[in-house]
Amino acid sequence: MKVLAISGSLRPDSYNTKLLRAAEELLPPEVDFVLYQGVKAVPPYDEGDDDAQVAPMSVAALRSAIGEADAVLFATPEYNASIPGSLKNALDWISRPLATNTLRNKPVAVVGASTGAFGAVWAQADLRKVLAAIGARVVEGEVAVGHAPTRFDEQGRLEDESLREQLQETVDALVAEVEARTLVPA
Ligand SMILES: Cc1cc2nc3c(=O)[nH]c(=O)nc-3n(C[C@H](O)[C@H](O)[C@H](O)COP(=O)(O)O)c2cc1C
Repeated sequence: MKVLAISGSLRPDSYNTKLLRAAEELLPPEVDFVLYQGVKAVPPYDEGDDDAQVAPMSVAALRSAIGEADAVLFATPEYNASIPGSLKNALDWISRPLATNTLRNKPVAVVGASTGAFGAVWAQADLRKVLAAIGARVVEGEVAVGHAPTRFDEQGRLEDESLREQLQETVDALVAEVEARTLVPA
C-alpha cells in the first residue's frame, strides 16, 4: 500500500510537514509513505490558458503521484482562516477534468497544525469540503495540533499522548478504507 503525504505548507521547518512525518511513524511498516515535495513548482491555475492544453510537468507529476497512491494524507496550516493559496491552487489543477481527476474516489485524510490555539480547524474543514467537491473519499478523523512549536520533540515525535492517539486513529482509518476496497469477497 502506498500513502502519499501532501503538506499545505512550503516552509522547510513546517509543523505540518512534521505532523506528516509523525504520521509516517504510526503507519504499519509495510506501508510505503511518500512525502510529496513538488507543490511549490505548480503554476497558478488559469482555465483560459492552461485547461485545454497539455498540463505543465509539475502538474502532471502531481497528478501521477496521486494516481499511483492508494491514499493521500494532507496536513494543512491555516492562512487567514482557510487553506493556503498554494494548496488550493494545486487542488484546482488536480480537479481537472472533474469526472476523471486522480483524486476521484481516492481515500484521503486531513490533519493540521497551527501556531495558535486551534490547530487549523477552519482550514481543515475547508480542505475537507474542497476534497469532497473534487470527489475524494474523505475519511473520518481530525487532528488539530494547536501551539505547534511546543508539540514535537527533537525527533519530531508528537509529545502529546492524546494528539498522538488521534493521529493514530486517523491513519488507521485511512489504511482501513484502502483495505476495505481491496478485499475480495469469498
Ligand atoms: C499568511 C498567514 C496567515 C495565517 N493565518 C492564520 C490563521 O488564520 N489562523 C491560525 O491559527 N494561524 C494562522 N497563521 C499562523 C500559522 O498557523 C503558522 O504560520 C503555522 O506555523 C504555519 O504552518 P507551518 O508551520 O506548517 O508552516 C498564519 C500564517 C500566515 C503566514
